[in-house]
Amino acid sequence: MQIDYRSMTIPDTVTDELRGWYEAVGLGFGQGRAQEETLQRWRNEVARDGWRLDGAYTDARGFGLGEHTPVGTFVTTTQTVNTGAGHMEPACFITDVTVRTTHRRRGLLTNLMTNALRRARDEGLSLAALTVTEGGIYGRFGFGVATSHTSAELDSGPRFRMTRDIEPRVELVTPEASVEARRTVFDAVHATHRGSHQRLAFYDDYLAGLWDHDKNGPNHAVRSAVHLDADGRPDGAVSYLFEEERGQIRVRDLLAAKPEAELGLWHFLGSIDLVEKVVIRRLSPTTALPWALADPHRLKVTGTGDFTWLRVLDVAKALGVRGFESDGEVSFTVDDVLGLASGSYRLVVRDGRAEVTPVSAAHLRLDVRALGSLYFGLVDAHVLAAAGQVSGPPAEVDALSQLFRTALPPVNTSGF
Ligand SMILES: CC(C)(COP(=O)(O)OP(=O)(O)OC[C@H]1O[C@@H](n2cnc3c(N)ncnc32)[C@H](O)[C@@H]1OP(=O)(O)O)[C@@H](O)C(=O)NCCC(=O)NCCS
Repeated sequence: MQIDYRSMTIPDTVTDELRGWYEAVGLGFGQGRAQEETLQRWRNEVARDGWRLDGAYTDARGFGLGEHTPVGTFVTTTQTVNTGAGHMEPACFITDVTVRTTHRRRGLLTNLMTNALRRARDEGLSLAALTVTEGGIYGRFGFGVATSHTSAELDSGPRFRMTRDIEPRVELVTPEASVEARRTVFDAVHATHRGSHQRLAFYDDYLAGLWDHDKNGPNHAVRSAVHLDADGRPDGAVSYLFEEERGQIRVRDLLAAKPEAELGLWHFLGSIDLVEKVVIRRLSPTTALPWALADPHRLKVTGTGDFTWLRVLDVAKALGVRGFESDGEVSFTVDDVLGLASGSYRLVVRDGRAEVTPVSAAHLRLDVRALGSLYFGLVDAHVLAAAGQVSGPPAEVDALSQLFRTALPPVNTSGF
């Protein structure tokens, strides 16, 4: 089987190549065929994000979906992640990874992934990030779980009560006005939360209900409300739907630059009439909500899991831009099957900033996946040692644990 790998940037109009691409991704994720307006809007969004499309193509004479529809798709875009201490680092975001059923398990993904990671590293990027549909796919390429998500349900209506006073500073806004307000709040959240990943352009219309790609049209059920600070500026925003048949509110997105704004929005959501429950997929890991409820049993965690995965491409650069909360030093060897981050390093942290120098050898060993999971502070090094991703003398595992520890868990609000 002859496979031809080609790369393209987003053209100015919807071309046959772009149509074929969209069709291939839809096939991979079990979606129906796209309509013209959806394609136009999708083109505009991914052009804003500067997507690069890598495709695997076959000779499509005879049967098949035509020469423009790839059998493998793979997208990269350079976006920022917050690495702590307010630093924004450009990273390679990976999305829309599919291989057509008829061509799976022949190494297409492996090819697309290894080429993209090498290219990102050669272009000077120190980190790559993605979200996953299945947990078994990406560890082999050096990705480790780096941020997590928590889903929850809040009993609202008469049983909902908070123990602290909340100033009523929430306003409902039109879908159009919500876009700008949400961007303002997101920028503040992104700048202040370690582990935050930049939002891609599709979020604007999706969260405002102006356009749902799945519905091929606007979603009139979506409502938006903002929380205002004491000067009347948005410092929180929520996008939600009323699901009448279930008597519940489903939160699509809840963003808050400050804890008061988050509690203000929860107070609003918990007070909506004719509703008994508020359901959220991504409760902030630092939320004060359970501690502010008169009855904490009114909030139930219904699930937790991985959110984003991180892959270190350049150890010295990635650690050099990480905000550390403890000073100290440790040497370690990174084992990386792809060889991108392999080597032995000495990490010295003074006043929260790291210096990384190569050394000839070290007793402590880290699988490159472990570095991704330690990076934003999601997990402690001792836990990874128990899992076999870190090994070495206990005192050095202690030093690693101490160095990477963060007071708060990473907060991410964006998938891609
Ligand atoms: C996941 C997918 C992209 C894999 O593509 P592929 O071309 O078959 O992958 P490769 O042939 O390069 O496989 C590489 C390795 O990963 C393994 N692998 C692939 N998909 C896997 C999965 N879902 N779970 C566990 N292992 C998987 C393969 O067995 C192979 O292992 P090996 O190197 O030990 O032999 C493809 O099955 C697909 O498109 N799935 C539907 C869409 C999807 O879920 N995309 C992921 C979005 S995050």
